[in-house]
Amino acid sequence: MAVDLLLGLQWGDEGKGKIVDVLTKKYNLISRFQGGPNAGHTLIFDGHKHVLHTIPSGIFHKEAINVVGNGVVIDPVIFNNEIEGLSKFDVDFKKVLLISRKAHLILPTHRLLDAASEKAKGKDKIGSTLKGIGPTYMDKTGRNGMRVGDLELDNWKEIFEKLTQKHLKMIEFYDVELDYDLDDLRTCFFNSVEKLKELTFIDSEEYLHQAIKADKKILAEGAQGSLLDVDFGTYPFVTSSNTTAAGACTGLGVAPNQIGEVYGIFKAYTTRVGSGPFPTELFDEDGATMAKVGHEFGATTGRPRRCGWLDMVALKYACQVNGVTQLNMMKADVLSGFDTLKVCTAYEYKGEVIKHFPYNIEPENVKPIYTELKGWQADLTEMTSKDQFPQELNDYVTFIEQETGIKISIVSVGPDRKQTILM
Ligand code: IMP
Repeated sequence: MAVDLLLGLQWGDEGKGKIVDVLTKKYNLISRFQGGPNAGHTLIFDGHKHVLHTIPSGIFHKEAINVVGNGVVIDPVIFNNEIEGLSKFDVDFKKVLLISRKAHLILPTHRLLDAASEKAKGKDKIGSTLKGIGPTYMDKTGRNGMRVGDLELDNWKEIFEKLTQKHLKMIEFYDVELDYDLDDLRTCFFNSVEKLKELTFIDSEEYLHQAIKADKKILAEGAQGSLLDVDFGTYPFVTSSNTTAAGACTGLGVAPNQIGEVYGIFKAYTTRVGSGPFPTELFDEDGATMAKVGHEFGATTGRPRRCGWLDMVALKYACQVNGVTQLNMMKADVLSGFDTLKVCTAYEYKGEVIKHFPYNIEPENVKPIYTELKGWQADLTEMTSKDQFPQELNDYVTFIEQETGIKISIVSVGPDRKQTILM
């Protein structure tokens, strides 16, 4: 099998970027298959912190090729800022960063439409990152979108203008106040497109097909998390792409029988940014401690993340939908110091006890039922081997492995590359 998948199993921000970075040395090629600059993959090494939004997390490894697949949506302005931010790393972007011609482009007016739609929703807003993700995928499925390959056509500015004019009419429909200067936005977009055109555009499905035939090792890097999947997440409080395993097939053009390992990444507790139901959310000291110790602020928007106990019902659901073969538990260090840890192992759902993830997990329908485990006090951040783990952490790991039926192969005990314990 040539393509392994790495996916988030919760509401995003599980620490996928760190694990891709740790695993990259095993792979020739890292590819993103969905989402766009709504993602914020944080990597910390050599004392520096880097946040990637659209560029795959293999970019810091000299030998790895990074592919932005057809399922990704690209904002040229953000993409170029990201590249400029990496200028000190001496990366030959033209050689190691390849972009699918079939990837869709986020236009400035997609971002305006996102803002208008959220404003019009008022208190029912999704809590979008406002990067234009939803409107761009709407244009894709509505067959109106503009793709990276269009930039190679002589008339790409006409295509841009036609779509922009359509968007401006749609913005009027929302009847909300938006402050913007279209000429500025257009100039900035055009300048960024010229920079983007200096990179290499490819027919990525063919490129990947040839790479598989040549026995290259490929890692597909998911963005967001399974509970934000447009089909299987907490709809409508989701993103607009398939964040689950199937999304890797459509977002790269890779057949299901070519998928090998599926790494499922989850935090030892749960976080969520933006609106939407969250059964194990904490509004007390414990939640505040997780937020503080875990530095739970969105990597893309800086918004505070909501925190709560591990939700096993949701985790098992995500393992099932994705066919997870190995689990990686992140941020175990953040749970040090709690006397008791709670794990939600069932829901009280409309008066019944259920163990599956139902259609609707709004608070009026769902109450978490907890199993309690003993916490640990030791600081894990300096530990370098699982032999140093406190017994209570081993028990927590075993409990999760028994509930999910899947082995935990990595426990992360801090943000740095080095703070990664192989199990
Ligand atoms: P959008 O994809 O930016 O429209 O956001 C839709 C929902 O997904 C909002 O609740 C966002 O906060 C959430 N979201 C989008 N991207 C991420 C991410 O990378 N991490 C965590 N949440 C995300």
